[in-house]
Amino acid sequence: MRMDPINLHDFEVRAKQCLPHNNWDFIEAGAMDEITTRRNRTAFDALTLRPRFLRDVDQRKLSTTMLGSEISFPVFVCPAGGHKLAHPDGELATARGAGKSNTLMMLSTSSHYSMEDVAGAASAPLWFQLYHRGYEFTEMLVHRAEEAGYKAIVLTVDTPVPSPKERDQRNRYENPFPLGNFRATTEELPAMSGTDEAPNWRPSPTAPLTWKELEWLRGLTSLPLVLKGIRTAEDTHLAVENGVNGILVSNHGGRQLDQTQSAIEMVPEVVAACKGQAEIYLDSGVRRGSDVLKALAMGVKAVGIGRPLYWGLAVDGADGVHGVLELLRKELDQVMAYCGQTNVEAIEPSLVNIPDGWGPGRVAG
Ligand SMILES: Cc1cc2nc3c(=O)[nH]c(=O)nc-3n(C[C@H](O)[C@H](O)[C@H](O)COP(=O)(O)O)c2cc1C
Repeated sequence: MRMDPINLHDFEVRAKQCLPHNNWDFIEAGAMDEITTRRNRTAFDALTLRPRFLRDVDQRKLSTTMLGSEISFPVFVCPAGGHKLAHPDGELATARGAGKSNTLMMLSTSSHYSMEDVAGAASAPLWFQLYHRGYEFTEMLVHRAEEAGYKAIVLTVDTPVPSPKERDQRNRYENPFPLGNFRATTEELPAMSGTDEAPNWRPSPTAPLTWKELEWLRGLTSLPLVLKGIRTAEDTHLAVENGVNGILVSNHGGRQLDQTQSAIEMVPEVVAACKGQAEIYLDSGVRRGSDVLKALAMGVKAVGIGRPLYWGLAVDGADGVHGVLELLRKELDQVMAYCGQTNVEAIEPSLVNIPDGWGPGRVAG
């Protein structure tokens, strides 16, 4: 009998075995030489733990909140386009899996199921990830997200132009499914589908995304606003000045711009600049409970997983997504006990050794 996956790496291996080659490559790919994608892992490995003992760690609290949304542990599902690539039930299965784990899911603008259908399948909080492709489309999407009960808008800022992945170019890859949020507007799709994933997307000269659009978006909705992809002190200052409620430190899993630092390396700079004025989250490279703990010790409120959600979906649909999340929960719980920590909301900063050279960047916090 085949053993269940015992960690996320097992899920990865199994997913590779069951996914069509081109879908696998599309999911795993990073931009260009994939250096940043690899660095997302090596940077976590460069952080080491300073365990504390002789403490009562019998009771451990993993539950927390993200801008008021309650979650059972500090791991959420990242926004990622097109889950049908890994399972026919796509984002419906992902929402069910996240629901079983009672944690938050961010739904991509480029989902294969509509945001209304996903809301119908969800039992845990949902946030809507927005690609801004012009005022009209953003207005339509944000109002629908409000109506459907999404609790925050996550604006992705790190994709000003498409980023072709060389693996996809080599495979002549085309995403075979239509995007669920735009069924009624098929003819407009090439102009606005707005994902790094849409092969026919061209950036529209009429749809720039600047701090001016952010101000407009702020006025459009009373939902909390999170910026995904901010990585520097300079942009953190501007984000806070512009009334942003959360910052998701992310390099898109290394899928957009190669040759940057890993996301976790940018956390000290962003945390120092933010001065507690917004909640800080992280994604890119999280694969172990110890990664979660390291990020929390550095001032992050919760972390997201991108590729692993596809691995879970590919292996076992909603149960696979749930399985991936539960492995991370188990590992986090265990590593907390080993490190003398009992509450994810009060993880000690001294828990982690940060290599020399990390920390507030060139611009003073
Ligand atoms: C196949 C795929 C599609 C993605 N699509 C989106 C998207 O539509 N919007 C977005 O903001 N991020 C998207 N991302 C990036 C994720 O939200 C997240 O930043 C990244 O996957 C985290 O890194 P990890 O894969 O190492 O966990 C996508 C990632 C993958 C792997």
